[in-house]
Amino acid sequence: MMDNSRGSIYHTPVLVDEVLAFVNERKRSTVVDCTLGDGGHSEAILANSQDNFVFGIDIDDEAVEVAGKRLDAGFRGRFHVSKWDYRQLNLHLARVGVPRVSAILIDLGVSSRQLDQAHRGFSYWADAPLDMRMNPQGTRTARDILAQWSEAEIETILREYGEERFSRQIARAIVERRCKRPIETATDLVDVIISAVPAKARYRSLHPARKTFQALRIAVNDELSRLDEALRKCFGLLEPEGVLMVITYHSLEDRIAKTVFRQIEARGAGVVRTKKVIRPGKAEVARNPRSRSAKLRIIQSRGCWGKENDDKKR
Ligand SMILES: C[S@@+](CC[C@H](N)C(=O)[O-])C[C@H]1O[C@@H](n2cnc3c(N)ncnc32)[C@H](O)[C@@H]1O
Repeated sequence: MMDNSRGSIYHTPVLVDEVLAFVNERKRSTVVDCTLGDGGHSEAILANSQDNFVFGIDIDDEAVEVAGKRLDAGFRGRFHVSKWDYRQLNLHLARVGVPRVSAILIDLGVSSRQLDQAHRGFSYWADAPLDMRMNPQGTRTARDILAQWSEAEIETILREYGEERFSRQIARAIVERRCKRPIETATDLVDVIISAVPAKARYRSLHPARKTFQALRIAVNDELSRLDEALRKCFGLLEPEGVLMVITYHSLEDRIAKTVFRQIEARGAGVVRTKKVIRPGKAEVARNPRSRSAKLRIIQSRGCWGKENDDKKR
């Protein structure tokens, strides 16, 4: 069903051992998996200790259903799943009556399930309508952006979110093409991109449409807006000495996580546990090529126990 090195029908989670190492620092952990996906990280955390409890959330109904089915039965009483946006995690925890948790995981980006299912419109290889919403109730699709945004706005997202060298040429070609007929499907968009980029860029190892599709996905789902605010809010929901773990796949996401963590550390509220960012080793990348751009950053809360606890330990 999907490009999954282990032959599993599920998304292959990245940096699992590294995440577990931090969760395992406590005998008993209450963890929020903010981006549940197929539930790979949650499963590893639940299987690792009978004492762990996981709240799994995702904005994608299908993720909630798939992970729910996968984990509900095997970990009854220790797993709670809801459709929710992690940017409002505070409201979810208030709803379930849990003021603070010991670990929060945010695994950003897109899941293999979302990418591989043609009808979701995330992939340049499938001739499907350009949807790209992670939350099917989201108000904006990629088609809407291509039809309604100005040339300058499209160029900006291609440059910033896609880091696309030919952003100007592609944005111009999109606007020229939509004046003649709408860009509806992935194939329509790939044709426009191929016509816009220089011939030598068409035959590189990376598909010439890859960056444009990435940029559109980030814009459709507003993935970078309010990420800094969401990280700060999540950090505020940690118990003393709890950990916030963020896996990023894009340089802008990573920069936001790094900056927010440094600011929290500078005001004395937390300690950055990953002075050097954690990346997958060669074996993991060989096993799961989609992990190649992953970076894990972790910050630990000092909370109100900070100095008090240090004193007790002495
Ligand atoms: C890389 S996948 C996570 C994969 C997961 N760790 C696993 O092991 O299967 C990212 C997930 O985040 C979800 N997501 C994206 N933005 C979200 C948000 N604001 N709130 C909750 N989930 C979100 C996506 O729908 C997607 O399922």
